[in-house]
Amino acid sequence: MRDNNLMPIVDEPVGIYEDPLDLMDEIDRLKKAKDATILAHYYVDGEIQDVADFTGDSLQLARDAARVETSTIVFSGVHFMAETAKMLNPSKTVLLPDLQAGCSLSDSCPADQLAAYQKKLREEGRDFQTVAYINTSAAVKSLCDWIVTSGNAREVVEERVPKDKEILFVPDQHLGRYLVEVTGREMILWPGSCMVHEVFSLQDLIRAKKSTPGSVVIAHPECPQNILEVADFIGGTERMKQYCASIQEPTKFLVATEANMIYPLENAAPQHEFIPVPGIMTDTGETCACNRCPHMARNTLAKVRDCLKRGKPEIEWQPYFDKAREVVTRSLLQ
Ligand code: 13P
Ligand code: SF4
Repeated sequence: MRDNNLMPIVDEPVGIYEDPLDLMDEIDRLKKAKDATILAHYYVDGEIQDVADFTGDSLQLARDAARVETSTIVFSGVHFMAETAKMLNPSKTVLLPDLQAGCSLSDSCPADQLAAYQKKLREEGRDFQTVAYINTSAAVKSLCDWIVTSGNAREVVEERVPKDKEILFVPDQHLGRYLVEVTGREMILWPGSCMVHEVFSLQDLIRAKKSTPGSVVIAHPECPQNILEVADFIGGTERMKQYCASIQEPTKFLVATEANMIYPLENAAPQHEFIPVPGIMTDTGETCACNRCPHMARNTLAKVRDCLKRGKPEIEWQPYFDKAREVVTRSLLQ
């Protein structure tokens, strides 16, 4: 039996140091040799964004995934994103550098619990459609009527969900509450949240705003209401980038989203200064580095290289992908 006093439990093997520049060269060579395209979300490390063929928010990456021509896709992001790329490309190999890269929002809404709740609502005679944030598993997507991202949620809710239906919105209660506010449509909200956006410190944000005259607060709609109330601009990651790039006057932005977002913001709008809003630990009240998503952080250059080399870990096709693809295609690509 393993004696935990003698053997430390290590989550990851401790690797030898490899120069990021060498890894980037190796990835470039492997991409060609393996006929692969790399997609990377704005929340992964900047060096991975640099080797990617496409970077973007969840909406743009889903659209990019649908038009990739190579036989292999490496999705540097989290599991639900790679699943979406696979359902849009049944015959392609879709690799995720680390299969453990999950998402607290996706985890908060298991498919069996959603199916049971939908059944209960139907039994009560409620006439509703289910709108799911893209941060859900493919199994959950297959149970829904619409899939939205931070980039198209308002438009789908306002223009596409029939007015005579109630809306069950899953799994992000904060994005859902924000959508109720901006669209005026009532919703039944699932009680999920993002572990990163949930922990921004309102006190630190207000202090930073006061001590940085002229600063502008930009916040992701996954943040709770108290953070959104002090924001000057609310939008998903792509909208944030467009907004900052549209302002010419050098400005200090306080950024309330995952801290790696600073990298594409600095690239798109180098005239500005971007300051990450700190997170706060709920048990002690101390500020922390929890404005980094631990799931996105599972992506490393070495793992991108390794998955290209080995052709795994791979997203396996599941029977419910067909139904999920129908909903994703109708919601995001048409
Ligand atoms: P967007 O990039 O679509 O705004 O989403 C943020 C996010 O949390 C991805 O997991
Ligand atoms: Fe999920 Fe939040 Fe991480 Fe995005 S930042 S992948 S919503 S846990």
